[in-house]
Amino acid sequence: MLIKHKKGWQETENSVTDESVYINRRTVMAGAAALGAAAVVPSALAQRDRVLAPLAARPTGYNSNESLTPEAAVTQYNNYYEFGTGKGDPFQNAWQLQPKPWSIVVDGLVDKAGTYALEDLIDFNALEDRIYRLRCVEAWSMVVPWIGVSLASVLKKIEPQSGAKYVRFETLADRAQMPGLRWPVLDWPYTEGLRLDEAMNDLTLLAVGLYGKEIPNQNGAPVRLVVPWKYGFKSIKSIVRITLTDTQPDTSWNISAPREYGFYSNVNPDVDHPRWSQKRERRIGEFGRRETLKFNGYGEMVADLYAGMDLRANY
Ligand code: MTE
Repeated sequence: MLIKHKKGWQETENSVTDESVYINRRTVMAGAAALGAAAVVPSALAQRDRVLAPLAARPTGYNSNESLTPEAAVTQYNNYYEFGTGKGDPFQNAWQLQPKPWSIVVDGLVDKAGTYALEDLIDFNALEDRIYRLRCVEAWSMVVPWIGVSLASVLKKIEPQSGAKYVRFETLADRAQMPGLRWPVLDWPYTEGLRLDEAMNDLTLLAVGLYGKEIPNQNGAPVRLVVPWKYGFKSIKSIVRITLTDTQPDTSWNISAPREYGFYSNVNPDVDHPRWSQKRERRIGEFGRRETLKFNGYGEMVADLYAGMDLRANY
């Protein structure tokens, strides 16, 4: 039997490392600027990072007048359990991931099944710049300028069949590149899923970049999902398989703790996590807390998807 350790965001909100303490420790170690100032990536660690090419993207209507979270916080305070359960582990360890070349298996109920090079699925000449909030179930949030294409544009290419109702996603699971796989903290490979209409919603993004550059390994290189109205764990990283199915797929967090992490996981201040409130959140880099918005503030674009559904039962 697998022994699952309670780590990271399975802990109570209060026991999770306070992000300002964490990042200050990092920046002090590196002799860099304090949190909130233009933080500098520690040079010794940066040498292990791959060089991130700039990506050209056209601006879209998905903007925000909120301040962007400092880039160093977005790339150094992460959840990516394949590289460890600590918030700094992905930044430390994800240099081992080799995101190029990358291919994605497309299978299940699609007319165009096959193994695709990333560049054949995503049109790198049609990238969009979209500023989205990401709200973690641990009650912290960020505002990030992502670069990517709508998942819908990719699904149209692979042609879902009429019986397809859900999309299942799978992350790479390679022990040679991902040291965290040695521990059975989750059911590997990490998997996630969306209902097909959620996947086709224009907000749902396949991201290949952030802050004008290719996406760093620790944020899910070379391609990850961003579903801004759902808790962050739905935004699966380093995707290697996309499967269209007629049944609701299992997801890693739902398997691990079904009472705590449901299939839908829409951001909802009215439904508490069994061990902490979801009413408020801390924006990384800010002091104090702000109110959490239903659907993370994207209700106008997504509330219709759930018309008539009991969002307490379907958490
Ligand atoms: N994807 C994989 N494969 N493994 C993970 O551990 N963590 C999720 C999600 N995607 C995770 C993942 C969680 S809990 C969150 S909050 C977001 O990634 C964090 O994204 P970020 O590190 O870019 O902020």
